[in-house]
Amino acid sequence: MILSIYLYGQQVLRKEAEETPEDYPQLKELVANMFETMYHADGVGLAAPQVGLSLRMFVVDGDVMADDFPECKGFKRAMINPSIIERSEEEILLEEGCLSLPGIHEKVFRPARIRIRYMDENLAKHEEEIEGFAARIVQHEYEHLEGRVFIDNISGIRKQLNKSKLNNIIKGTTNCSYRTKAVGK
Ligand code: CO
Repeated sequence: MILSIYLYGQQVLRKEAEETPEDYPQLKELVANMFETMYHADGVGLAAPQVGLSLRMFVVDGDVMADDFPECKGFKRAMINPSIIERSEEEILLEEGCLSLPGIHEKVFRPARIRIRYMDENLAKHEEEIEGFAARIVQHEYEHLEGRVFIDNISGIRKQLNKSKLNNIIKGTTNCSYRTKAVGK
């Protein structure tokens, strides 16, 4: 089932998400719906707050980017209650976008490599080192669980330049190919 994607301005995107209970009802169904919603919107990652649920979980699939970023080949994961336990000192500057901020693309510095612990949708525990653009996708989604969005990392000037776009997103007047929930609509 395709879910509505909550847009910038919605309070749920600004809350620190709650641990996902291990007995959360229909967890696998939620994960499947989040993947379906993400693919439908041509995204490579989607966090639970983006579908209005304040839960620490997200899905990612970077495979479509494998031509430019080989580390994304087959990189499909559902991460429940993830915790980033190491971040490299080395940082990389690359452009990002977000399904909750349609039409906005900005360059963001992120650590090049991370180590993360998480559970998959079967509640099996994993610890994994991730690098390159795959690490970037995971860090972008992880940030959603902290109540942050990627443009929180850009300069005030860059933010100012996006102000009218941001206002349109809040008002719900942005053109979007997928179903959204804006504050103003
Ligand atoms: Co995002």
